[in-house]
Amino acid sequence: MREVVVLFAHAAPQRSRVNRRLAEAARSVPGVELVDLYGTYPDFYIDVAAEQDNLADASALVFLQPIQWYGMPALLKEWVDMVLVPGWAYGAGASALQGKGFWLVASTGSPLDAYAPGATHGYPFEAFLPPYRQIAALCGMDWIDPHILHAAHRVSDEALDAHVDAFTARLTALASA
Ligand SMILES: Cc1cc2nc3c(=O)[nH]c(=O)nc-3n(C[C@H](O)[C@H](O)[C@H](O)COP(=O)(O)O)c2cc1C
Repeated sequence: MREVVVLFAHAAPQRSRVNRRLAEAARSVPGVELVDLYGTYPDFYIDVAAEQDNLADASALVFLQPIQWYGMPALLKEWVDMVLVPGWAYGAGASALQGKGFWLVASTGSPLDAYAPGATHGYPFEAFLPPYRQIAALCGMDWIDPHILHAAHRVSDEALDAHVDAFTARLTALASA
């Protein structure tokens, strides 16, 4: 079975309500490797060769993260900057990630209705996804419909449980595809 690599990017997992639950769930799914980015690279010094090797046999790459300032936590952006280099991830002759799935699993503090013209964040939530979409596209990866939880601090325990269950089911299907 080829692996699904989940990059878990949370700077303070001990204070996480949502992403820590999702990371724990991912750890229990056969065929999934969870990489705790902040735990592995607390100094932000990423082992690029090891990260690239780790993706060689993977069928899919998952970003598991809180949305921060409309995008990725800093260490996940550093991972993108350092690991997805031209000649390996994209550009002439580069095919390392071609045909792999790319899945964004993320949470926001704000509710969905804060993401609208005239509301707090000014734009629909989807307006913040093109950088992710284009990272996937440039690297030849196949976009998988994101799994997003809004109002992460306010949703009921039942809604959070359902979100974690749906994630586990989708991840299990991805890992056994
Ligand atoms: C530095 C920082 C920036 C954030 N930026 C946003 C943001 O742009 N939009 C938003 O809805 N929430 C934002 N949040 C809230 C987080 O997305 C939210 O706390 C997180 O999704 C909750 O997940 P957790 O329980 O796993 O920590 C931000 C939080 C931090 C710490």
